[in-house]
Amino acid sequence: MNNAVTLNSINKSFGEAEYKNQVLFDINLNIPLGKINFIVGPSGCGKTTLISIIAGILNQDSGKVKLLDIDQKDLTEKTKSSFRKENIGFIFQQFNLVPTISVIENVAIPLLIQGKGFSEALKRASEILNKVGLQEKEKSLPKNLSGGQQQRVAIARALINEPKIIICDEPTASLDGQTGTTIMEMLSSIAKETATTVIIVTHDNRIYNYADRIIEMEDGRIKNVREING
Ligand SMILES: Nc1ncnc2c1ncn2[C@@H]1O[C@H](COP(=O)(O)OP(=O)(O)OP(=O)(O)O)[C@@H](O)[C@H]1O
Ligand SMILES: [Mg+2]
Repeated sequence: MNNAVTLNSINKSFGEAEYKNQVLFDINLNIPLGKINFIVGPSGCGKTTLISIIAGILNQDSGKVKLLDIDQKDLTEKTKSSFRKENIGFIFQQFNLVPTISVIENVAIPLLIQGKGFSEALKRASEILNKVGLQEKEKSLPKNLSGGQQQRVAIARALINEPKIIICDEPTASLDGQTGTTIMEMLSSIAKETATTVIIVTHDNRIYNYADRIIEMEDGRIKNVREING
């Protein structure tokens, strides 16, 4: 296995009939294992749509998605969903933390969904919060944390079941430069330590030096793929 993600001829439109708007055109893309991949391009060019298809949040109209060498078409809806829960961590731009439960419970959610016991899930959540430097915020509600701290909680939640692929939509856009850099340091050291594949959509040119590869999109197409660090 060489690729974390393989896309063949992906097309995607929104709307019907005269309102139909095609936003992805014949996307072919290989994302190798264990690298940090940036997806960049102008607003509206289809970045979020593309990563949502990779993550299984949206379905493509046509074309093939292979994750870790498995053609997603070969899986039933049920096995597809558990495959993705096990192998993909998704970090949303707006963090999507549950406001009414504590930080540690938010981080434990993926394990609880997988049917792990509550105390085991909390123990693991505590370990990973420690790793992202938020051990003293375990019992807080998300709203009492800064933007950067909330983003670290979202990252801890995405990492807790050690996914092979981490997908982030603009993880640093709403953060100041220093916090953005800290988040990227964390993601890149995790990627290196655990050979995790990281896919990051970003407009943030302050963090471009963390990329191994930059995938440029324009008007629903891949325009260019640049390798940065060999
Ligand atoms: N649910 C939807 N229904 C209809 N059109 C949509 C939907 N989601 C996205 N689009 C359209 O698809 C196109 C691509 O959107 P997408 O969100 O993928 O762009 P993006 O590259 O992520 O932009 P940004 O950088 O602003 O986040 C846009 O024209 C958008 O209006
Ligand atoms: Mg977007």
